[in-house]
Amino acid sequence: MSDDPAMIRSMVLLVAGFGALLAGAQRAGYDQPYRPQVHFSPRENWTNDPNGLVYFRGEYHLFFQYNPFGDVWGHMSWGHAVSTDLLHWRELPVAIPEKAGEMVFTGSVVVDHANSSGLCAAGTECMVAVYTGYRKDEKRTLQNQNLAYSRDAGRTWTRYEGNPVLDLHMSDFRDPSVFWDEKGGSDKKGHWVMAVALPLEHKVRLYRSPDLKQWTQMSEFGPMGAVSGDWECPDLVRVPPEKKGGAEVWVMKVGLNPGALQGGSGEQYFVGSFDGTRFNVGTESGAHGWTNYGKDDYCAISFNNLPAGAKPMLLGWMSNWQYAAKLPTSPWRGQMSVPRRLSYVRDAAGVALRQEPVIAQLRGAHAGVVSAAEIVREAPFEMVLHFDPKAQTAFGVKLYSDEEHWTEIGFDPVTRVFYMDRMHAGEAVAPEFPVKTDAPLSKDRLYDLHLIVDRSSVEAFAQDGTIAMTNLVFPRSPRTRVVFFARDGEKPAVKGEVWTLRSIW
Ligand code: FRU
Repeated sequence: MSDDPAMIRSMVLLVAGFGALLAGAQRAGYDQPYRPQVHFSPRENWTNDPNGLVYFRGEYHLFFQYNPFGDVWGHMSWGHAVSTDLLHWRELPVAIPEKAGEMVFTGSVVVDHANSSGLCAAGTECMVAVYTGYRKDEKRTLQNQNLAYSRDAGRTWTRYEGNPVLDLHMSDFRDPSVFWDEKGGSDKKGHWVMAVALPLEHKVRLYRSPDLKQWTQMSEFGPMGAVSGDWECPDLVRVPPEKKGGAEVWVMKVGLNPGALQGGSGEQYFVGSFDGTRFNVGTESGAHGWTNYGKDDYCAISFNNLPAGAKPMLLGWMSNWQYAAKLPTSPWRGQMSVPRRLSYVRDAAGVALRQEPVIAQLRGAHAGVVSAAEIVREAPFEMVLHFDPKAQTAFGVKLYSDEEHWTEIGFDPVTRVFYMDRMHAGEAVAPEFPVKTDAPLSKDRLYDLHLIVDRSSVEAFAQDGTIAMTNLVFPRSPRTRVVFFARDGEKPAVKGEVWTLRSIW
């Protein structure tokens, strides 16, 4: 290489220019009117659930249910994207394709540090995917659990020749979520634990394994809570307290489709304990709640193998099976929520899961907010608002995309609900789409609101993140006029901040 400074400078410029060109090319594919700017979506085609969320050697991996051939569900394969900061994702080629009549349904990825599976190169660690294989012909439907492994940081995958590793010969048995329980095993040296759904029986089964290949049933959880639809996408997560000092709890999260709180698909959670064999739900107030009180957050799962001390992190599919296939986006259909860090709070109102969106790295221009402010922003943008805790009538904020179209987010201390109304937001999509979603409001928690407004979604976190409400919207324009309102006609007392957000593309 030359050490002539002029030469080096021109080479650096050339490389930088090429980088900018690539970035520009990437952005061009991601600039349609409804294209999410701070949420992951595949460049083209259909996605549903996130799969195999895992951190490995400096990269976060997002696999996802993907149809490589179209923008409706089918040919289910695992798509793949990587990120170093959980926000800027780079889509890679399909990781695990449909093969010989086997679709690749939802599952998880673990890092097999000790090569317990024997699937890694001798003496090394590798990534192992545990997924549901799905086969259907005239005679039967079959779902069972299978392995694939990657020895090159997720770039290429090989199906294990001993598949399936867990087969009950059932038509509905899916969505394995696997983690390493370091205290497990008779010798306390650790073992793998799998939570997997028996959807029609409204049960989550827990299995254990020393090597990811042989699985032994430990226990069953459910039916419990809401059971009017299939149980899918279970996840058993260890969650720390928000305030230092308290003990960790275990949270069992279960997808439900249909029959969720807001109709269609949605997710409930249970707070309890895990004794190494069995999950026991607690009896305290708040031990059963909804992971999301909006319509559009489904099959969220947590990341495996996060760096020591990191809070668990959840990321879900931002859609609803009621109308997922009708969303007016092209050439892609489906997007993911922003990742959320999980903790729990225990206060006068009981126990609650707390979700804190990961977004701050995208913050750009900043301004303070007071109730009289005239705020106009182009999505994506973010607001953190604190309303008067003594308010007596309903109040909140309206996001107008033109004079006739708006999304309203509000607190009603009289009826004790927190709500989001997208009935007049824009495109109606389907009969089940234009709705108002609500969540119980607690008098014992503050009236704060954290909003992430993207080109086709509003994610709201209220009452210190104990209420998450995610809804898709298809507004008339990304240009948004923000108006504060109160039912009694006065402007509500509010203080806060607003940031424009930088596009991830
Ligand atoms: C949930 C789900 C899963 C299944 C996958 C198939 O959205 O039905 O239970 O594994 O989607 O795409």
